[in-house]
Amino acid sequence: MPRHNGEDPRFTAIFARALDWTVGHEGRIPWFAPHDMRFFRERTTNGVVIMGRRTWESLPKKPLPGRHNLVLSSTRPDTGVHWLKTKAELLDVARHSLFDGKEWFVIGGVETFRSLWDLIDRAIVTKINQHCDGDTKFPEELLDAFDIRVPGGVVMTSETTDTVWVYERELE
Ligand SMILES: NC(=O)c1ccc[n+]([C@@H]2O[C@H](COP(=O)([O-])OP(=O)(O)OC[C@H]3O[C@@H](n4cnc5c(N)ncnc54)[C@H](OP(=O)(O)O)[C@@H]3O)[C@@H](O)[C@H]2O)c1
Repeated sequence: MPRHNGEDPRFTAIFARALDWTVGHEGRIPWFAPHDMRFFRERTTNGVVIMGRRTWESLPKKPLPGRHNLVLSSTRPDTGVHWLKTKAELLDVARHSLFDGKEWFVIGGVETFRSLWDLIDRAIVTKINQHCDGDTKFPEELLDAFDIRVPGGVVMTSETTDTVWVYERELE
């Protein structure tokens, strides 16, 4: 949801987390949740997805089809995707965007969420109902300035107890 009135663009974060807020382990997502993969695909298709270099490298199939993929990396390791070297470069692309009218998502990982968090106004978070204890955890305190829109979350499917939570940044 970039704005074009001189203000910084605003983005939606979307990710899945385990009960202990693990999001990754050894460079991958440590659970198999096809219902969440489907939800993620449906929610982000036709949008712009921004990710960090390590998340890009972890994708089994790249780029994510049906979405414009933007990858942040200070080293820009290869071609074949739209690389951005800095947050300033990302802001420039979003402000003078060729992707007007599209929804803009930040899809991780944690280092990327941290570096772009001040630009994120909404977070769509799948709570995977498992303990994982992985090496990459989402810093829960980032959501302190956010309100939960639907208390209790929304159950994803009748086959799982996983839920989707939507957080909106509190108005100042
Ligand atoms: N559960 C989920 O929904 C979910 C979603 C996404 C990822 N993950 C998991 O999270 C893990 C990866 O996360 P991560 O935190 O280790 O890495 P990451 O955020 O995917 O990537 C970090 C890299 O992105 C680049 N980067 C980030 N911010 C930048 C900025 N402002 N300017 C320039 N470059 C920037 C840097 O690349 P350079 O080093 O090249 O400069 C940095 O080393 C994996 O295990 C993955 O499977 C889980």
